[in-house]
Amino acid sequence: MKHSILMIFFCCSVFYSSASFSEDDSEDVIKYRQNTMKVISMHYKSLKLLSAGRITQPEQWLPQAQGLNNMAKIVSASFPEGSDFGETDAKEAIWENKTDFNKKADALIKFSGQLVSLIEKGEQKQVSELLREVSQSCKDCHKRYREK
Ligand code: HEC
Repeated sequence: MKHSILMIFFCCSVFYSSASFSEDDSEDVIKYRQNTMKVISMHYKSLKLLSAGRITQPEQWLPQAQGLNNMAKIVSASFPEGSDFGETDAKEAIWENKTDFNKKADALIKFSGQLVSLIEKGEQKQVSELLREVSQSCKDCHKRYREK
């Protein structure tokens, strides 16, 4: 008996933690994911300034890259089914091709993860090159899945 109550608790908590945004207002979900995109964009731009040598804060490369990598990991889940109503530039095509969309999000996770590793190893010279891959992964997704 005790066991089954525990099981129910376990199942509910798993369900609860994966029931992303189901209770949330669609407009808020849209605002929230646009914020995520803005944060991604700001980390990217800051890394460009650092790698171009225009900002000399060597210890800040890593937190910027980690921020980008962390945010990349929440992109896919930030586009739940049904969140295409409102002030959004997200195209319907996302939900018709969610597997491909997720693949494009994975590319950003991969490249930003490589960025973190490079910086951890102190190989900062290669960062500019990798930032081009990162930028390409943004474009690959926007081209197909973002309005304008
Ligand atoms: C997997 C797809 C995907 C990837 C990868 C991606 N984006 Fe986006 N991005 C979108 C979509 C879709 C929107 C539109 C979201 C909306 O309006 O609801 C968006 C919106 C944006 C916006 C506008 C946010 C706003 O204020 O409305 C910016 C800026 C942005 N992305 C920058 C980036 C940058 C920089 C990268 C790469 C470092 C990136 N994105 C990677 C899909 C992606």
